[in-house]
Amino acid sequence: GAPVEADISKVEPGMMVTQEWRGQPVWIINRTPAMMAQLEKNAHLLSDPNSDKSEQPEPCKNVARAMPGHDNMLVVVGICTHLGCSPTEKLKAGNEGGMGSDWPGGFLCPCHGSKYDLSARVFKNMPAPLNMRIPPYTYLDDQRLLIG
Ligand code: FES
Repeated sequence: GAPVEADISKVEPGMMVTQEWRGQPVWIINRTPAMMAQLEKNAHLLSDPNSDKSEQPEPCKNVARAMPGHDNMLVVVGICTHLGCSPTEKLKAGNEGGMGSDWPGGFLCPCHGSKYDLSARVFKNMPAPLNMRIPPYTYLDDQRLLIG
């Protein structure tokens, strides 16, 4: 399949949009400073905190799982690594997101309950074995991504 362009100029902090790529949903999420601050704190709760076993382009191999200089923007294939369901966004932390007071913000898979953080990293002891996949992508400029 051909690469697809995504306009991210209207993706405000705290917002998420979906761009289809090769028949798969690619989520683009503009994380707020509060969301970013949470990522480091999650490490001890995660199955693969440094994404050593999970799939992403080399420049995205960091806590944010994002391109350097664009740390806040998460670009991820929104498919659970267990059996391929589409997780639900539960971006808001704590009770505001309806997930309990200790919820750090992230995603919940409705099929068998796998939970992921705001870098789409899976928590420990979940059915899903790996973090969600980061697709290959580049920034054409600050407003446009090329995915694929
Ligand atoms: Fe997501 Fe099973 S498919 S937990």
